[in-house]
Amino acid sequence: MYNEKVMEVFKNPQHMGEVENYNAIGTVGNETCGDIMQITMRIENGIIEDAKFKTFGCAAAVASSSTATGMIIGKSIEDALKLTNKEVITELEGLPPQKIHCSVLAEDAIRAAIDDYQKRVGSK
Ligand code: FES
Repeated sequence: MYNEKVMEVFKNPQHMGEVENYNAIGTVGNETCGDIMQITMRIENGIIEDAKFKTFGCAAAVASSSTATGMIIGKSIEDALKLTNKEVITELEGLPPQKIHCSVLAEDAIRAAIDDYQKRVGSK
């Protein structure tokens, strides 16, 4: 069902866990499959210094969250908000059609975490 790249990332996920002293946290879930994804970040001067994920879900969700967190570390908040699930899918060299929503979860979790940060610092 999954290509080699997805399986490789799933077996050796990067950025798993929780960022110490995080100042942004986003948790999202998919009602249909019941999977949950949480992303924590440390944001300094508008730059995402670190990001980690915890995913209670399928292989595609783990691979998507690992890839997405890797893609936003070092980026500005503005650039991270532009990350789409399509870019995550491209990075993973494709996902089966019924697994597209797993990558959407990663995009949503990043947005939720940044939203949380903006509320904390009062810019929202
Ligand atoms: Fe729902 Fe993968 S099956 S996140």
